[in-house]
Amino acid sequence: MLKEKIPYYAEKYGIDFIIANGENVTHGKGLIKSHYFELLEAGVDAITLGNHYWSKSEITRYIDQADRLVRPLNLIKPFPGEGSVVFELDKISIRVTNLLGSAFMEEEVNSPYYSLITLLDEAEPTNIHIVDFHAEATGEKQALAYALDGKVSAVLGTHTHVQTSDAKILPNGTAFISDVGMTGYANGILGSDSDTVVNRIVYGKKSTFVTPDEGRGIFSAVVLDIDDATGYAKQIFPIYFQEEN
Ligand SMILES: [Fe+2]
Repeated sequence: MLKEKIPYYAEKYGIDFIIANGENVTHGKGLIKSHYFELLEAGVDAITLGNHYWSKSEITRYIDQADRLVRPLNLIKPFPGEGSVVFELDKISIRVTNLLGSAFMEEEVNSPYYSLITLLDEAEPTNIHIVDFHAEATGEKQALAYALDGKVSAVLGTHTHVQTSDAKILPNGTAFISDVGMTGYANGILGSDSDTVVNRIVYGKKSTFVTPDEGRGIFSAVVLDIDDATGYAKQIFPIYFQEEN
């Protein structure tokens, strides 16, 4: 879906820079090195992660050389890689930060808000700053976005895999959506085969979630238009494409 849809939408909307959350790319959990490069070859410029940042252990062996990969900033345990990375695009600096939520998530994390405020205090300012807030609760995502309104260009929620219809620009210029949604297998549950999920979640059976290799696809994204002079968002709108049955 990425390989097909990125060129189409990039041309349609004149996209300059593409960020993908890649934490579920390798069979639903984690990101191996070859898939990291596959995303870049598909046209992705920066890749963020989430609670599955370490689900494929080989990431610890390549993340320090992967200059387009952004792992969660607010991890408590030491982990290689960077939680916030600056990219240069035609003399415009774009900071991409990945944050993990604290509500209903299993990982122990530092406060997402104070981690980001500390970063803003210490880091070099950039023209644009986009935050991927990987979190479960819509309330936590909205609260963080309003707390950061005017301090970053966008707070984009990920993790629930279901695109929300609340994309908007907040009063002080920060673009926001509770969840961008997912790209992958459309007929199942959050990208996995439905039987494998129902067996565990509903019937309590031992079951490994399976991400099908084939099937109807879905592509979810948001398009941002950001004023690089002010860093504020001018527009945000969602893309939600499903293949026909
Ligand atoms: Fe996640």
